Amino acid sequence: MNIGIDKIGFYTPPFALSMEDLAVERGVEPAKYTVGIGQSTMAVAPVTQDIVTMGANAAIEILDEADKEAIDMILVGTETGIDQSKSAAVYIQKLLGLSNRVRSVELKHACYGATAALQLAKGHITLNPESKVLVIASDIAKYGLKSGGEPTQGAGAVAMIVSAEPRLLRLEDEASLFTDDVMDFWRPNYEAYPMVDGKFSNEQYMRFFAEVWTDYATQTGATFADLEAICFHLPYTKMGLKAFKPFLEELPEEEQERLTTRYQESTAYNRHVGNIYTGSLFLSFISLIETSSVLVAGDRIGFFSYGSGAVGEFFVGELVEGFEKQLRVEVHQQLLENRKQVTVAEYETLFSQMVDESGEQTFQVEDKSLFILSGVHQHQRQYQKQ
Ligand code: CAA
Repeated sequence: MNIGIDKIGFYTPPFALSMEDLAVERGVEPAKYTVGIGQSTMAVAPVTQDIVTMGANAAIEILDEADKEAIDMILVGTETGIDQSKSAAVYIQKLLGLSNRVRSVELKHACYGATAALQLAKGHITLNPESKVLVIASDIAKYGLKSGGEPTQGAGAVAMIVSAEPRLLRLEDEASLFTDDVMDFWRPNYEAYPMVDGKFSNEQYMRFFAEVWTDYATQTGATFADLEAICFHLPYTKMGLKAFKPFLEELPEEEQERLTTRYQESTAYNRHVGNIYTGSLFLSFISLIETSSVLVAGDRIGFFSYGSGAVGEFFVGELVEGFEKQLRVEVHQQLLENRKQVTVAEYETLFSQMVDESGEQTFQVEDKSLFILSGVHQHQRQYQKQ
């Protein structure tokens, strides 16, 4: 039985900041952000968007009545959870009007959570071929104003429907995994922002890619010639290429060119969104399939997932016949283009508005997204469909 991604949707908040403007304000050479890190604009989340609203906004784009009836599991991968106990999946079940007869759960392992969810969904469909699973990756990457990680922030969500006989991507069974206890990036419960050793995290990312690719190639006999493209987890768009480069350089020139062009296509959307943690790898996939004009059914695409702390996984999917019909190029390009470009001062204001400990708040932000967080009452988040 073929199992994989039947549909994929994406949402990012309606505010964006130019990386050049941020660089000028921070006294940094703009090329460091736009070329060295490879980011042009950064999504900025207002207080009215959290992992629940972003996840629901991403999912509503792809759900039809048949999906709603068949979904019996909702998995939310995130590392910016809003509650230590209650799962974001249950809020999303309600906002989307999904059946009560669903298993709903939130998964965590830094940026790896949604890949874990995707693989669990695949297992679930193996046992229940008639059902569908809604997998959501939703995160707000915040490192703090004027912090080292500031140019690698972002916000957004990706929603996927996983089913038998998928119309977009068939997931292959082989996968290579690597887990090792490293302290490259973590966020203790009492901290608003993560603790990160930037240089060390880059090194670990590269080490984990080398580990899982080499193991995958050994297990399966695959070479890069077998893959039309590789999508990477992209904390910033230069990162995947840094890990890929030592391998690329060993390939014949034509193959280097092909894979580098595909890489650029797979980073086009991420360049304008920034890091969305669990969703970054899947945003890279959307970017690839909606930007490239050379992909055809049968093309095999590699995926490198990395979650700090750390877990790495390499797996492969195959584009299925008619996959083009599942693309939403115009919707996604408009989502990016219609964002309000904010000044650095406006970004700092939006950044600083948060849910606090008072338990009573009302939020007023010019946010026309379908689902918003309108406030907090008696410590309970108040979600609204507009
Ligand atoms: N023109 C062009 N390039 C320039 C430049 C200029 N004027 N000035 C600097 N650069 C280049 C540098 O040469 C460097 O390129 P290379 O890495 O290819 O050498 C690049 O710009 C970045 O410069 P620095 O290394 O000096 O930047 P930094 O010290 O400010 O740190 C960072 C960059 C480590 C990404 C930091 O922003 C950070 O800590 N970010 C958060 C952590 C992170 O994203 N880690 C990634 C791996 S972990 C992961 O993937 C999980 C996750 O999602 C967090």
